[in-house]
Order: sequence, then structure tokens, then C-alpha cells
Amino acid sequence: MSSKPSALKPPALKPSAVKTAGPERLLRVGVIGAGVMGSNHGRVLAGLAGVRLVGIVDPLAAHRARAAEMIGCRTFETFDELFAAGVDAVTIAAPTHLHCELALACIARGVHVLVEKPIASTVEEGLRIVAAARQAGLTLMVGHVERFNPAVAAIKQAIKGEDILSIAITRVGPFPPRMSNVGVVIDLAVHDIDLIRWFTGSEIIDVQPQLSSAVAEREDIALLQFRTASGVLAHINTNWLTPFKARNVTVATRGKYVMGDLLTRQVAECFGFQPDGSYSMRHLPVGHDEPLRAELIAFVDAVRSGKDPAVSGGEGVASLEIAIKCLEAPSSVAPPMRPAARLIAG
Ligand SMILES: NC(=O)c1ccc[n+]([C@@H]2O[C@H](COP(=O)([O-])OP(=O)(O)OC[C@H]3O[C@@H](n4cnc5c(N)ncnc54)[C@H](O)[C@@H]3O)[C@@H](O)[C@H]2O)c1
Repeated sequence: MSSKPSALKPPALKPSAVKTAGPERLLRVGVIGAGVMGSNHGRVLAGLAGVRLVGIVDPLAAHRARAAEMIGCRTFETFDELFAAGVDAVTIAAPTHLHCELALACIARGVHVLVEKPIASTVEEGLRIVAAARQAGLTLMVGHVERFNPAVAAIKQAIKGEDILSIAITRVGPFPPRMSNVGVVIDLAVHDIDLIRWFTGSEIIDVQPQLSSAVAEREDIALLQFRTASGVLAHINTNWLTPFKARNVTVATRGKYVMGDLLTRQVAECFGFQPDGSYSMRHLPVGHDEPLRAELIAFVDAVRSGKDPAVSGGEGVASLEIAIKCLEAPSSVAPPMRPAARLIAG
């Protein structure tokens, strides 16, 4: 299968910097959705220099009350109330199936947008958001927060200029407390599809997925193999059947073997391979930033400067497109192995 490069590199049309918000004035930011991610967006934005958190909008009174108590910010029941309060930019952390409708409505009001990952439910919707933002000259960034994990940044730095041969990523854990209507590919693997594309700077052109629904209705185990246009082989192992969370990345290059634990944030590399099989190993320095904070700072900087955002809408679409290909590949989903073999916690 080959992917269309168009999603990654839309014709360049630079977003304009916020005209009403130079460095001297606070950027007014609103959050859409007061669930798990939206509350975190609100918490981080409330503490960012140069930003005024205008408030969080959510139709659920209980979620608004929780956010107001946790963050001490204004909350709004409707989208229109948030806009009436005045915003330059928003972050969208509502359920994925609403991303397109909400992002288009924000863009139509001339507001810059950061939309949580995945950018939308379908490639077509994602492309509509990208086109609308481009047409309006507004910043559109996608919340692929793992790029801002300091361990990921250390791995990216370690493989800079290296000839990458293969990448293996493990992202496993228990069932989420609340099951949404997506499986592990859209919920979890899309993070790693984005990392593979980002590490290699190349598009995924071949997809070989193996999926299974062992317990849940949607796939809860996925073993995904890829080949990039640059010839890198990559593998993602993800599931909701592991009793503990693990997020590990290994990258083999001609000169190095880099290993990172994205949870403990330990990154090490093996290098100096000798004909007798010996080699050297060292731990690499890793920063301490909160990934979401770094992501939102990058968004605010892109809005203020009008420069390309760290994760463009086109990149969000390209990663979504690969995830959907994994789901649509013929015979990629095996029949349930053992129905109701295990109880789902939560
Ligand atoms: N980057 C990450 O690591 C990460 C992690 C978790 C979730 N996410 C993404 O964040 C988004 C939200 O996920 P979540 O886990 O926070 O979900 P959630 O269910 O906890 O929260 C969603 C919230 O949106 C609210 N909502 C529904 N309709 C709305 C509307 N029209 N306007 C405003 N709010 C509305 C809901 O009431 C709820 O409070 C999803 O797209 C998900 O994929 C990203």
C-alpha cells in the first residue's frame, strides 16, 4: 500500500501571526472539552507566561464543575459563550468525532487551533480542517504530545544524522477505565506512527497489520509492521491486555543502537561496535519538561510568530491515514481468540 504524500506536505501558505496579540499582550486561549485531556490543557495554560486562560467549555455540568474547582477558571456551557468572552486561540480536547465540526467552527471565527490527536475521525475530515486553516491563514497544530516527551527528544537527538535501519515501539497497558469507541490503533498506535514518521523524516509506504479483539469489541491487540519510503522497517506492539503500562522505543542505526523508556525517561545508546562483538554504552541526558507544557508553549509560539507549528495539520492527517490503513487492511482483524477470556477492569 502506498500513502499519498499530499497529506504530509500541503502547499505552503504561512499562517499569519496573531495580529491582535503581539508579545506585549496576553494571548487569550480557550479550551474545548473539560474531560481528562481538556482539564490538563486548562491546568497547563493557566500557568503559562504570556497566556490568559479565558475558560473551558463543556456541555456537561459535572465536568465544568470539576474543571472550575481544579483550575479555578471560568467555564462555559456553550461554544458561543466561550467566543463571546473573546479568544485568539483554542485547544480542542473534545471527543475525536467532534474535532472536525469544532475545528471548522473555530477557524470560521478566525481563531487559531490546536486539536488533540488524532486530528479527526477520517482522513477526509482531517483534510477539511487543514484546508480551512490554510485558507484562513491560521495556525493549526495537532496534539501529538509524545514528540514533546524529553525521552523522545533525546532519542531524536541521538539518531540525528544516523542511517536508521529499524524502529521498534512498545506501547502497552491495561484497559482504559472508560472504553471509547476506538481501539488501540487509533487510541495508542497513532502516537507511534507519528514518531516513526518523525524519526525517519519519511512516509510509511507499506503497512502490514495484525489485529485482534481478544476482549473488547474493537481491536485490543495490534502488531503493526511498516516500511518507510526511505527503507526503514518499523514495528509497533500495542495492546490493552498488559497489566502495567510500558512505553519503550528502540532504534537501530548503522552506527548505534538507541533504547528509550518513555515512562522512566531513561535513554541509552550502544555504539562503537567492534568486530569481536564488543561495544560501548552510555546513558544520554534527558530533560524534565512536562510534555503537554512543552507542546502548548510550542503552539503559543507558533500562533505568536506565524511560523509553522511543531506538528502540522498535514502531519496529523498523514499519521491518521496510516492508522486507518492498518484497520482497513484485508484480513487484518482475527476473530476473537477467547471471547470474554478476561474481565475488563473499570
Ligand atoms: N495526546 C494524548 O496523549 C491524548 C490522551 C488522551 C486523549 N487524547 C485525545 O483528547 C480528546 C479527548 O479525550 P479525553 O480522554 O479527554 O476524553 P474525555 O471523554 O475525558 O473528555 C471529552 C470531554 O469533551 C466534552 N464534550 C463533548 N462534546 C463537547 C462539545 N461539543 N464541546 C465541548 N466539549 C464537549 C465531554 O463532555 C468531555 O468532558 C480525544 O480526541 C482523545 O483522542 C489525547
